[in-house]
Amino acid sequence: MNMMQVIRTRKTCREFTDEPVTKDQIRTILEAANAAPIGMHDYEAIEISVITDRSKIDRIDALAGPNAGRMGTGPTYKAPVLILLSGEESGIERGTAYCNAAGIIENMALAATDLGLGSGYILGVVKALQSHPELFAELGVDDGYVPVSAMTLGHAADVTLLTAEREPTISNFVTHFVE
Ligand SMILES: Cc1cc2nc3c(=O)[nH]c(=O)nc-3n(C[C@H](O)[C@H](O)[C@H](O)COP(=O)(O)O)c2cc1C
Repeated sequence: MNMMQVIRTRKTCREFTDEPVTKDQIRTILEAANAAPIGMHDYEAIEISVITDRSKIDRIDALAGPNAGRMGTGPTYKAPVLILLSGEESGIERGTAYCNAAGIIENMALAATDLGLGSGYILGVVKALQSHPELFAELGVDDGYVPVSAMTLGHAADVTLLTAEREPTISNFVTHFVE
């Protein structure tokens, strides 16, 4: 796929198979993360936890509750991998933590699409996690960092999700041409 095909094919995946994601695939996803833009070249602003422990993902899911997911499964949709991004506390108020995370997640989602893997931007777990700092250490969140965004990763139950390109459009967003 060329770049525009990858962009058109990326879609949020909300149903995954149990097939595990390989270490090589995770490495490629992390390479994409590490190539993302980051405010002020400050790579310390974000830390990444790659969570593959089923019990931990299920626990996060239970904390957020079924209403945070669209299919009654909880917001992680039983994905085999949850990649949690945590931002330095100082970047929360300024918003940079969330902006950094968004760029990183989009890079990872595009790489996942190119690998034929499903992914999804999941903000639905963040509020619940932020109110449970006692869990931070076991989720790989260091002192001084707070979870700000997450991405699910796995094999899509419906493979057509990752083969069908969306119709090109420039009208989803209201756009003003100021000429
Ligand atoms: C900041 C942000 C937060 C999101 N949080 C969730 C979420 O918690 N749960 C979910 O199912 N989808 C979530 N999404 C995915 C959007 O619902 C999805 O991107 C949108 O409906 C467009 O669909 P597409 O990704 O298939 O193009 C989020 C997307 C963004 C950008």
